[in-house]
Amino acid sequence: MNQSNVCTQLYPTTLIGSVFLAVIVLLIGYKVWVRLQLSRAKHPSLSGHAKMSRRMAKLIPYFSYDEQMFFVSDGAPESIVALRKIGFQRLQDDFQTKSPKSISFSQSLDDSISDAHFTNAYRVPFPFREYVREHLKMGAVADTTSGVQIKDLDGQWSYDLTGAYGVNVFGYDFYKTCMANAWEKVKDFGPVLGPYHPIIRDNVERLKAISGLDEVSFHMSGTEAVMQAVSMARYHTGKTHLVKFCGAYHGWWDGVHTGVGGHRETNDVYMLKDQSDDTLRVLNSRKDIACVLINPLQGLHPNANAPSDGALINSGRSAHFNRQAYTTWLQQVREVCTRKNIALIFDEVFTGFRLAHRGAQAYYQVQADLVTYGKTLGGGMPVGVLCGTHALMKRYKDDQPVNISFARGTFNSHPYVLACMDEFLRRIEQEEYQQIYKNLDTIWGSRVAELNHRLEQAELPVHIENLSSIWTISYTKPSRYNWLYQYYLRNEGIVLSWVGTGRIIMSFNFSDEDFEAVMKRFVDAAKQMQTDGWWWQSSSLTNKSIKKRMTRDILRTHFPVLRRWLRD
Ligand SMILES: Cc1ncc(COP(=O)(O)O)c(C=O)c1O
Repeated sequence: MNQSNVCTQLYPTTLIGSVFLAVIVLLIGYKVWVRLQLSRAKHPSLSGHAKMSRRMAKLIPYFSYDEQMFFVSDGAPESIVALRKIGFQRLQDDFQTKSPKSISFSQSLDDSISDAHFTNAYRVPFPFREYVREHLKMGAVADTTSGVQIKDLDGQWSYDLTGAYGVNVFGYDFYKTCMANAWEKVKDFGPVLGPYHPIIRDNVERLKAISGLDEVSFHMSGTEAVMQAVSMARYHTGKTHLVKFCGAYHGWWDGVHTGVGGHRETNDVYMLKDQSDDTLRVLNSRKDIACVLINPLQGLHPNANAPSDGALINSGRSAHFNRQAYTTWLQQVREVCTRKNIALIFDEVFTGFRLAHRGAQAYYQVQADLVTYGKTLGGGMPVGVLCGTHALMKRYKDDQPVNISFARGTFNSHPYVLACMDEFLRRIEQEEYQQIYKNLDTIWGSRVAELNHRLEQAELPVHIENLSSIWTISYTKPSRYNWLYQYYLRNEGIVLSWVGTGRIIMSFNFSDEDFEAVMKRFVDAAKQMQTDGWWWQSSSLTNKSIKKRMTRDILRTHFPVLRRWLRD
């Protein structure tokens, strides 16, 4: 074989090999690039990394401050500790004097109702839990409501700022009327499930108009409505992954509750950064994303979990709402979802009927493909609802008769729930309620501004951020004791839910006089807490130093042999 023959035979083989290699390198490079994009779109905090946060949660050992440490965990001097002890004793005595029956009734439930046991334990950061449980007992039972107030078993009336977890939008009396009227309409029907009560039709028509979508499915809770929304998105897009945003709550189903609190390995969820171009790039480039799930409440605290006083170890909690910026962000997400055949789901279980009659879709001027509702929509009864386009809601495929999407639920479309919903939806169409919606942001904006002004004037380290009627409190000076403010508020006659000052939900029926009383109580409670020394300041007390101290306490508990080196 001569030289030129060898060359012509070798060249094609080498050429093919080189091209093959180049393709492989390009493919690997592309995969690496796509993976890097995903990593960049994750929020750097622990709550941006579900698996890691779960692993970390297992590494944090329980420890409890004894009586001495309870009062001096920030290194305050003896004189301040003495004030704190007097203040703490006063709270304890006041609670016992005002509400002994409520306290003892609540105590009798604590061991038997898992939810009560959990929520009581997680009202305060865990090192303080034991001492609080032992000494600062608060009632968590009530038997009457009227206007914006709630009465405990001892006849103590307090302002209710729990919002009934978001259900109470228009005031309890509104829902009592819905429930009473509904009862009259369906009381002769009974729990008939299967044949629909005709009341269903008006509900469906109203929900279609409100959501701007074609079809409705009824469920029993917000969690179920979210499950169904995600399921339908996967079924119709044929794609596997759900995108949700860091810190957003969508109910307790472990398909969306992927961080601390859930236990199943979820490999079909991307938890990405809110309001970030990195996230838009991921939505733009990946082919496996079936849907983007948005809780429009996150505009108040993007990339942060639902704020709870149980996690309030320092004053690092912050929030800020910028309506324009969040609107622009949602519109960008809408645009990329449309382009990439990704279903855009608005989870309006909380914001629906609260931010506006047509909820967050109207508030931010964005139309979603699937929308979930719940809470207040039941007119006082438990409910979950999913609205969507025909294309996304259909549970079977015309050309594949066996390929169905299965979803049932015995109590879906319960006639009593539907009758309450009917009352709710009819009533909020009335001028009186439409007027409330129109003025919402102006009223709550000016009320919050006035309260903040009074708190500032009194030089108190408490600041309220709000998204319309939804508030969260941040603390403007470093402290380990901010969580105690919920107890001072209770002593002034303000009831909060178990998450404390992190989530305050105002119902729309607060009159100016009611609100004046609430403002006074907020200021008085904070003044008393200040006088009792809990917000003592020193140059060495910073949010960073508090975190460091907490880390040191964790290490001391985990590795007792290090105690000598990890002294104060
Ligand atoms: C945005 C959002 N989605 C879903 C849920 C779950 O609803 P439910 O508690 O009715 O299951 C909640 C409840 O707080 C919520 O706020």
